[in-house]
Amino acid sequence: MGKVNAVITGVGGYVPDYVLTNDELSRMVDTSDEWIMTRVGIKERHILTEEGLGTSYMARKAANELLKKTGADPDSIGALIVCTTTPDYKFPSTASIVLGKLGLKNAFAFDMECACCGFLYGLDMASSMIQSGRYKRIVVIGADKMSTLIDYTDRQTCVLFGDGAGAMVLGKGDNYLASKLTSTPMPDVIYYRLPCEPTPFETGEGIDTHMAMQLKGREVFRMAVTSAQRDIRDVVEKAGLKLEDIDHFLLHQANMRIVDAIKQNFDLPQERFLHNIEYRGNTSSASIPILLDEKVREGAIKRGDLMVFNGFGAGFVTSAAVMRY
Ligand code: UT7
Repeated sequence: MGKVNAVITGVGGYVPDYVLTNDELSRMVDTSDEWIMTRVGIKERHILTEEGLGTSYMARKAANELLKKTGADPDSIGALIVCTTTPDYKFPSTASIVLGKLGLKNAFAFDMECACCGFLYGLDMASSMIQSGRYKRIVVIGADKMSTLIDYTDRQTCVLFGDGAGAMVLGKGDNYLASKLTSTPMPDVIYYRLPCEPTPFETGEGIDTHMAMQLKGREVFRMAVTSAQRDIRDVVEKAGLKLEDIDHFLLHQANMRIVDAIKQNFDLPQERFLHNIEYRGNTSSASIPILLDEKVREGAIKRGDLMVFNGFGAGFVTSAAVMRY
């Protein structure tokens, strides 16, 4: 990588107040706290229930906290990237809405959609933009209101997801040490078809007519575990480091069993693999920045610590990055 790269100036996070528990889900579908805890490891997830509030609201809350915490001058922000699969509108972009609410006068704004990998893709793009020398400071937000995509009569998916947002300010520095992004064309393992789609998506089983999230859970599980082991090793090597050098591994919080399966393949102190999925659920693009924000606030991650981020999601897309906090 070149000399000028990115550094994390600050992080912020937001989850809505409403807590959807396993007990409440057990009254909605044929499931139980025991099944969910054993197979998924999620105790509760936060849901944005207030009418009229969408992804831009959560993105704004996370970014406001971030700007307040860092004291960053809003006029110094050159770009705003909102990574989301659940935009408020087809257009304009959610980023345009957030830009106005934050009063960023000198920034341009756009959305990125890379499913659960969104934030890490956004981070990589922002880092390249800073490396180019054209932008000094960029806000990257991962925000998703997954509850809008969920069929709350489908027990396989409704137990998994929650809503939330996480934000980061990137500035000039040399802390983004290595990254890796991959895309493998496997569109039918996890998808959500738009109602206006003119040519219905063709799956292995024929033309799809479903109007809610479809998930081949076992295939996604296998892809996630396999890709994470590969990408984490590759990116650490690319950074010229050893696995033992890494203080914290922040994996996309999709399922506690996935986190467990990944960490068991590394001969490392297992507490280095951080998690909060028990109380957040899978918040898609927001999961890694929310985890980072919480662990920084708890004092578990300190300035100078080496971190590996790893994500995977619909596409099938994967990403890993090595960064110093
Ligand atoms: O960001 C990426 C997003 N995707 C994911 O995170 C998904 C990754 N995959 C998974 O997390 C798991 O595959 C699931 C949690 C989705 C499913 O767990 P599994 O151990 O792979 O279960 P399964 O799909 O093989 O289903 C086993 C049984 C089935 O019943 P039968 O056919 O054996 O009678 C399911 O109908 O478990 C049943 N089942 C449930 N039972 C109670 C599925 N969901 C539930 C549920 N409660 N919520």
